[in-house]
Amino acid sequence: MIDPKYSIGIPEMDAQHARWIQLIEQFRSASSGHLLDQASTDAAQRALEQLLDYTQTHFASEEQFIAAHHYPDVEAHKALHRRLVADVTRLLDEIRLHKSHTTPLKLNLFVTIWLMEHIMTEDDKYARFIRGKA
Ligand SMILES: [Fe+2]
Ligand SMILES: [Fe+2]
Repeated sequence: MIDPKYSIGIPEMDAQHARWIQLIEQFRSASSGHLLDQASTDAAQRALEQLLDYTQTHFASEEQFIAAHHYPDVEAHKALHRRLVADVTRLLDEIRLHKSHTTPLKLNLFVTIWLMEHIMTEDDKYARFIRGKA
């Protein structure tokens, strides 16, 4: 079940967002400690790999969904998705190379702002469009 605060009123997408948020939270808790030792870095890296993987799965599914419902801004929405994937990939590369100056706080803010806000702003836009037609 998704936190009602993040519900966009489309059960199929809410279910995917619930899973996605779960992975975001897992990454947040994995990166909340000091990423100074190898074990913490590895755990954060694994959590972010899982998050990136599911992010791509969800985005592909969502893009098909909104195209099937003739959402007029599909291309713009896809571009936002590509940017998020690029940002998460860059962050993952930084963690992998272990040359990141990124602090846990910044990591958490990053996922919170970029990923969670995407649901509440951009995903909510297509949801209102599709619900409006129903
Ligand atoms: Fe979404
Ligand atoms: Fe989206």
